[in-house]
Amino acid sequence: MRRSTLAQLLLGAAETGIRLYEWQRRWLDDDSTFRILLKSRGVGGSFIIALEALIESLLNPGSLTLLISYSQRQSLELFRKVKTVLGALERASLSWGGEVYRSVKVSSESKTQLELGNASRIVSLPNNPDAIRGYRADSVYIDEAGMFRDDFEVKSAVIPSTVGRGGRLSLVSTPKGRRGWFYEAWTGGAFSRHTAHYSEARHITSEELERLRKTLTELEWLQEMEHEFLDEANAVFPYELILQCISEDAYEPASHPVFIGVDVGRLRDSTVITALERLDDGLLRVFHIQELRGVDFQTQENVIAELARALRPVSIAVDKTGIGLPLYESLSRTLPGVEGVAFTHNLKEAMIAAIQSLMRGRRIRIPADAPELINQLRAYQRVETQTGGVRYEAPRGQHDDYVMSLALAVGAALKRLTTGTAVKRVWNWP
Ligand SMILES: Nc1ncnc2c1ncn2[C@@H]1O[C@H](COP(=O)(O)OP(=O)(O)OP(=O)(O)O)[C@@H](O)[C@H]1O
Ligand SMILES: [Mg+2]
Repeated sequence: MRRSTLAQLLLGAAETGIRLYEWQRRWLDDDSTFRILLKSRGVGGSFIIALEALIESLLNPGSLTLLISYSQRQSLELFRKVKTVLGALERASLSWGGEVYRSVKVSSESKTQLELGNASRIVSLPNNPDAIRGYRADSVYIDEAGMFRDDFEVKSAVIPSTVGRGGRLSLVSTPKGRRGWFYEAWTGGAFSRHTAHYSEARHITSEELERLRKTLTELEWLQEMEHEFLDEANAVFPYELILQCISEDAYEPASHPVFIGVDVGRLRDSTVITALERLDDGLLRVFHIQELRGVDFQTQENVIAELARALRPVSIAVDKTGIGLPLYESLSRTLPGVEGVAFTHNLKEAMIAAIQSLMRGRRIRIPADAPELINQLRAYQRVETQTGGVRYEAPRGQHDDYVMSLALAVGAALKRLTTGTAVKRVWNWP
């Protein structure tokens, strides 16, 4: 039985009414030595630490689990969470693997530690490297790891006393800038990575989100809720953001409205076509990306016409800037729903902002097997000009035709949104 199944059974037997979220199940079932969880505020990060600490203590008699928080107050609060979960589990009774887990017994208990009947201990500590060094732990959890002062000192205290002895280490946090141990661990590759976004925590209501949006500045919102390590230089689409929108499973269009974007090759001899579907809940799902490289004008037109016949798109947004004009004109004579889009600075900026906003709200899905698009998105930059303005562009020497093709398809889909949908930013083609 998976740990998540056991956890859910216990929560059920204790009649807590809590159903574990998918991310919580993935986290519980990952038995890597190093795990890291990047989360929005309030999603249940401390709760999952408390629950897992108890379950691991039950399953491994005589074990020691350390919970480390950045402040005294936080460590007390985390320990209270452990006791709340314990209180529920004490009422539960469950048999599994020949064992009966009934009324978890506590043999001793103080404000910051408790010992179970099977001699397992859970200790909650504030940020104090010296105290940490005094323990030999089987498992260490660092809650809000991004908030730790002197975090590298904590790291050098934790690693030898835990991992050096065959123990496991878990870091949980909202991001706090491109700095420190948490950021290093997140980007370093040694940790098994998990995320928990507010959209994956149903207990957070839309009223609560609305209130947060009003109280937080835009930058705070990005950091606290949208997983952004803020000072990431000039990236328009931070990699983490893109990864959230990647979908591994193959996707066939169903019977939802289809929108197509066509970026006509300027810099290199290629045209990129992107088709996406708008699902009933407003989610945009990219299902077709095609590059026509070194293909003559007539063939391009034929390919697009054939695609349009197969997919019956609501609209096809075609870049009509410069070299795109003849293709647009000829497509608009033969196909319905063709719109010419002239890229202006403002329009481009609005399109990029729209894609960002969709990504942050997890309202767009990009197929994992679109490496060209993903790479171009990653490379996209926000550049401040000498006159104090802002330009969005691909770095020197790189192309942005996949991004523009996506932007055209997204623009076409958003343009047709009526009110009452979740998408806020709609613009008109000039
Ligand atoms: N699967 C779930 N279903 C319903 N409620 C849950 C679930 N998981 C956690 N919660 C609840 O969510 C609330 C917030 O949990 P918790 O404090 O652990 O979140 P957090 O991510 O640590 O928050 P913070 O960012 O403030 O530290 C708690 O009331 C907790 O009981
Ligand atoms: Mg917490």
